Amino acid sequence: MELNNTALVKGIKSGIGILLIGSCVGLIGNVSNWLIKKLNDSFYYKIDIDSKDKSYEWVMYWLSSNDSIKGSNHLSAETTYNSVGKNPRIIFVPSVGNHRILYKGRSLWVNRVRDPQFDLGSGAPFESIQLTCYKSNKNILEDLIKDAMRLSLNRDFGKTVIYMNDGGSWQRFGNPRTIRSLDSVILADDLKKTVIYDIKEFLNNEVWYRNRGIPYRRGYLLYGPPGNGKSSFITAIAGELNLDICIVSLSQKDMNDKKINQLLNNAPPKSILLIEDIDAAFNKQRKIIEESQSNNNLHSDGLTFSGLLNALDGVASQEGRLLFMTTNKLDFLDEALIRDGRVDLKLHIQNATKQQARQLFKHFYNLDNNSNAMCEKFAQNIQDYQLSMSQIQGFLLKYIHSPEGAIENINLLNPVPIN
Ligand SMILES: *[C@@H]1O[C@H](CO)[C@@H](O)[C@H](O)[C@H]1NC(C)=O
Ligand SMILES: *[C@@H]1O[C@H](CO)[C@@H](O)[C@H](O)[C@H]1NC(C)=O
Ligand SMILES: *[C@@H]1O[C@H](CO)[C@@H](O)[C@H](O)[C@H]1NC(C)=O
Repeated sequence: MELNNTALVKGIKSGIGILLIGSCVGLIGNVSNWLIKKLNDSFYYKIDIDSKDKSYEWVMYWLSSNDSIKGSNHLSAETTYNSVGKNPRIIFVPSVGNHRILYKGRSLWVNRVRDPQFDLGSGAPFESIQLTCYKSNKNILEDLIKDAMRLSLNRDFGKTVIYMNDGGSWQRFGNPRTIRSLDSVILADDLKKTVIYDIKEFLNNEVWYRNRGIPYRRGYLLYGPPGNGKSSFITAIAGELNLDICIVSLSQKDMNDKKINQLLNNAPPKSILLIEDIDAAFNKQRKIIEESQSNNNLHSDGLTFSGLLNALDGVASQEGRLLFMTTNKLDFLDEALIRDGRVDLKLHIQNATKQQARQLFKHFYNLDNNSNAMCEKFAQNIQDYQLSMSQIQGFLLKYIHSPEGAIENINLLNPVPIN
């Protein structure tokens, strides 16, 4: 009993001891945490950059192009594409975690943090970058961000940036393109003038729309046989008006109603939304065409026709929304998709006219007005609307140094000889 008692007392004593030591450690822990934080605050200067802010993209781009991170021993590879599926390029950015780099001869730390939460709308992980330096040279962080901004803006200056959707979020796609001039796109009649005028009217009349409570958005449908420059035209429009292009891919396997809505209503500012070959996604029965749904058959939460319509009608962003859709098969489209309010202007881009053939010939061989007779001779042999522009251009490419050769052999181009 006594033994037990002693044991009990000892037990209690040591328990108290442990408790005491525990709370001392706890106290010391708290004090040292507090101290570390105080020291941190007085020694270091920090800037947090959230992935939702534009500066995040700038700083990541700066980090990927500046040699300073090469000194870090843990990088992440990110693949970017210059055109769909072609020419992949790898860039290196600091991986998740802390990195010390030298900037203007000073030390600073880049901490890339990935939030365990996902953005429910886009499905993309939240990220942030924390930049830290010694308080004594706090200016260098701001310098770095300004450098990053300058570098990014210079890269895009006078260029067209292409974005593509990765699920429900927008990603830059390859390097920005050199602007395509409107002159290089040969279209019938005054089509170019009509469209550019219409868009400028729209962009200049935001107040008019807002005052009348009309959603500030405008939709265009370009339809007609393939190979006549529908996509080039849109690229040239973007160049002319200094806009970027967001290409919406509806056939991504995880596309659904929520993501399409997120995409159409969160496009980067000053950009054109482009849905190419809109007929390819849905047939007349409003069904998603098998091909695009094949990976999706087991899920009931894929993209639906009404989901797309809702997204098209959704709240337009502050900047207004310019939507372009293209199709080779107007007859295949559901009326609801292209009714007024969703599509405001329908433009028929047809096969080449004589007049277009003449312009193409002149442009292709870079001829001046002295050669007008020659251009005319070529055009005379082209029947209106029989051939696509790309067919004629393909033919000219065979006679790349010889306009005379192209004229002599014109009968090889025409499906039906003209007398
Ligand atoms: C990288 O950063 C340094 C400053 O430390 C700067 O002088 C240099 O021009 C930068 N290089 C590029 C490619 O931006
Ligand atoms: C060539 O002809 C077009 C149309 O007739 C005219 O507008 C243009 O000024 C001419 N160019 C030159 C260099 O003479
Ligand atoms: C347009 O050109 C294509 C390619 O040459 C041809 O197959 C098609 O029949 C033409 N369309 C019309 C309406 O003539």
